[in-house]
Amino acid sequence: MKALVLAGGAGTRLRPLTHTSAKQLVPVANKPILFYGLEQIRDAGITDVGIIVGDTRAEIEAAVGDGTALGITPTYLPQQAPLGLAHALLTAADFLGDDDFVMFLGDNLVEGGIADAVETFRRERPDAQLLLKQVPDPERFGVAELTPSGDIARLVEKPAEPRSDLALVGIYLFTSKILDAARRIEPSARGELEITDAIQRLLDDGARVRSSLLEGWWLDTGKKDELLDANRIVLGSIGRSVAGEVDADSEVVGEVMVEAGASIVRSTVRGPAVIGAGCRIVDSFVGPFTSIGARTCIESSEVDFSVVLEDCLVRGISRLEGSLLGRNVELTRTRRRPAAHRFLLGDHSQVEIEGGS
Ligand code: G1P
Repeated sequence: MKALVLAGGAGTRLRPLTHTSAKQLVPVANKPILFYGLEQIRDAGITDVGIIVGDTRAEIEAAVGDGTALGITPTYLPQQAPLGLAHALLTAADFLGDDDFVMFLGDNLVEGGIADAVETFRRERPDAQLLLKQVPDPERFGVAELTPSGDIARLVEKPAEPRSDLALVGIYLFTSKILDAARRIEPSARGELEITDAIQRLLDDGARVRSSLLEGWWLDTGKKDELLDANRIVLGSIGRSVAGEVDADSEVVGEVMVEAGASIVRSTVRGPAVIGAGCRIVDSFVGPFTSIGARTCIESSEVDFSVVLEDCLVRGISRLEGSLLGRNVELTRTRRRPAAHRFLLGDHSQVEIEGGS
């Protein structure tokens, strides 16, 4: 069995972060989202992994490399343009051959891995096996309508008026029949070849399409609040490990990971939190549900429920909450006159300043 991981696409919903980097590499608890999926694939006993790449190919290849660190053997498959998930699938046709495979969207994060689903698929070997999850906003996803006996009746991609609350999770198990189905669909209203339509085509052909309900959480890290939420949930299970230095005037409380080369000086870090390699936390409070990326400096500030990426400087800010900072961001306080806020913000940035009526 093989795996096909989708790591192309534009990532418009996480702009401005994804102006400069791949959405699949945005970190959750300081680890790229993509790595969680690759590890789950490996843990299901699959090592032959095709990775669809697009404009951010160089970055994805630099992160995953030859796969040794993740225990997989990647084959990079460039997709000419982001023309849909079924288009990505067809791009991989030669790589997949006649093999069964799991297709995994590189920005999806699920609890508990995929080993059980893969095991069920191998045992029962339907033509396709889907994972569904009840969600409050099904119109944002592919939606499954079930028959009274629980079989799949119909699949619709992002219906304006969803007829169920069961979303298609971005993890699918397929036999090679899906390739043939994908060759027989037309682009959707958004101009893409939808995987949902290809599976519907399988259903129309009378193929056996099974589904199961995902028990654990499913995180679609498409937007800032979802990313903060994903970070909160994943941090809840990191445990405690302190490899960096904590001085005598600091306190590190609860489940906190302080990576090697980080130093905590006259500060309090209250977990769950992760402090990346080479960070400096000085005269500050870093509160629960916060990830601080490598080499970032937090001075005389309070940060909680936030994700700060690598190489940032946060100085004199009390207090930063519910925030997502990209790489190399500087957020500092100044005595310069006139007293004012001074910004240099990228496209699609969002700033909220406290106060007002
Ligand atoms: C894609 C699929 C959709 C699925 C979702 C899961 O949506 O088209 O059916 O529910 O992934 O993340 P997209 O991310 O392309 O909007």
